[in-house]
Amino acid sequence: MSLDPEELRRLGYGVIDRLVDHYATLSAKPPMPVPDPGWSAASVPPCPDGPTDPDAALDFLFGEVLTRAQYTSHPRFFARIGAPSNPVSVLADLAGAGVNVFAGGWVGGAGPSAVELAVLDWLRDWMGMPEGTEGVLVSGGSVGTLTALAAAALARVGARSRATGYCSEHAHSAVARAWRTLGFDPDNLRVLAADEHHRLPRDATRDTIEADRSAGLEPFVIIATAGTTSTGAVDPLAGLADLARAASVWLHVDGAYGAPARLTPAGRDLLAGIELADSLVLDPHKWLFQPYEVGCVLMREPGLLERTFALDGAYLRDTATTEVQFRDRGPQLTRGSRALKLWLSLTVFGLDAFRAAIARGLELAELAQRLLEERPGWEIVTPAQLAIVCFRRVAPGLSDAEVDALNDRMVAAAVADGFTAPSTTVLGGRPVARLCTINPRTTDEDVRATIERLEQLAG
Ligand SMILES: Cc1ncc(COP(=O)(O)O)c(C=O)c1O
Repeated sequence: MSLDPEELRRLGYGVIDRLVDHYATLSAKPPMPVPDPGWSAASVPPCPDGPTDPDAALDFLFGEVLTRAQYTSHPRFFARIGAPSNPVSVLADLAGAGVNVFAGGWVGGAGPSAVELAVLDWLRDWMGMPEGTEGVLVSGGSVGTLTALAAAALARVGARSRATGYCSEHAHSAVARAWRTLGFDPDNLRVLAADEHHRLPRDATRDTIEADRSAGLEPFVIIATAGTTSTGAVDPLAGLADLARAASVWLHVDGAYGAPARLTPAGRDLLAGIELADSLVLDPHKWLFQPYEVGCVLMREPGLLERTFALDGAYLRDTATTEVQFRDRGPQLTRGSRALKLWLSLTVFGLDAFRAAIARGLELAELAQRLLEERPGWEIVTPAQLAIVCFRRVAPGLSDAEVDALNDRMVAAAVADGFTAPSTTVLGGRPVARLCTINPRTTDEDVRATIERLEQLAG
């Protein structure tokens, strides 16, 4: 299972050439794959007993597999939350995989562990959390939420069956999944109705906590969202932090997509209070422009992640050390390094490039809102916030149900058409169209052309 060095070089350069071509031609491709009902596991050739031609295998990979993929770095990928990656991080992932770097412990991975500590401290600083806050890089927001809530439970929960948590109806579904996975009673996750700005209302949260406590339950965590996936709304973080302190409950903040906006002046205002979280999740594979998979958990209480996740075994005794062991800070023992790509891209481009790229995303949603407002037949449902704008096509004489169906059809047609990829969500029980504009490579013209295309399709 080795290749002649020159053959490896040739194949490797070929892969890089194909990637460079992919980036150069991205805008001409569909951002979402065109559905192909003929494609299935049976389309993948059976495992050969002997060697086959590597060029043919790479042709299949690039021609058949990687073409059937959403391109979240595409300038007109506006669906859900994109992952507008950067090529320098790809090189770091390649280098890490090439060395098969181990970031689970210091003895086998002092290099990547030190980089992870450094990068975590950068993230902590950008989020305004105090020195001493610790962290770990995980696969993304879902595992980050699970990791943070597991630690919060260890710190605060007595009887798991009586523990209650509080989040808004717009919290990401990863919260409810983590809640169930951790063995809490699903009925004890209080999913509160959001206010008119789609935020978790502080007073209703307080009242519910009080009522639960009087009923003998154990309120233990408020889960606030800093940038909801549907609308970009930010729960009232500072007020919820006050409430959490007064009510002696944990404050977890899900900033999976929104938190990096704190690197910009506008985002810093919007996210005021995020620094008060007991635990915070953010996803560098969203608005810090990293390729999948990298999420981050930051934990205010030093040592708590280790108390939650530390593992040991006779077979690990030779790797004991007083230095950090990232295997003890999360659910993975063997882990590659997610820190390398963050470190390399930030080092090569510099933090100002990231700040500017985030600010550009904020502006693009404002541009989309302005364009929609200028043109007849559009209603803004939620204004641009944290690079998301929600809207609907309206037409005189149509019932609400007909308008809803029109918007669903318009978005589905746009995606199928292959030019642009908006998505939908549901607000107030009704579907709405939505653009998430966090890709700094999106041009003003991409936004304008997307709106024009939607108009044509709605017509
Ligand atoms: C607010 C929020 N939380 C959590 C998640 C889940 O993150 P991941 O998909 O990385 O697991 C997302 C994903 O979009 C999100 O927007």
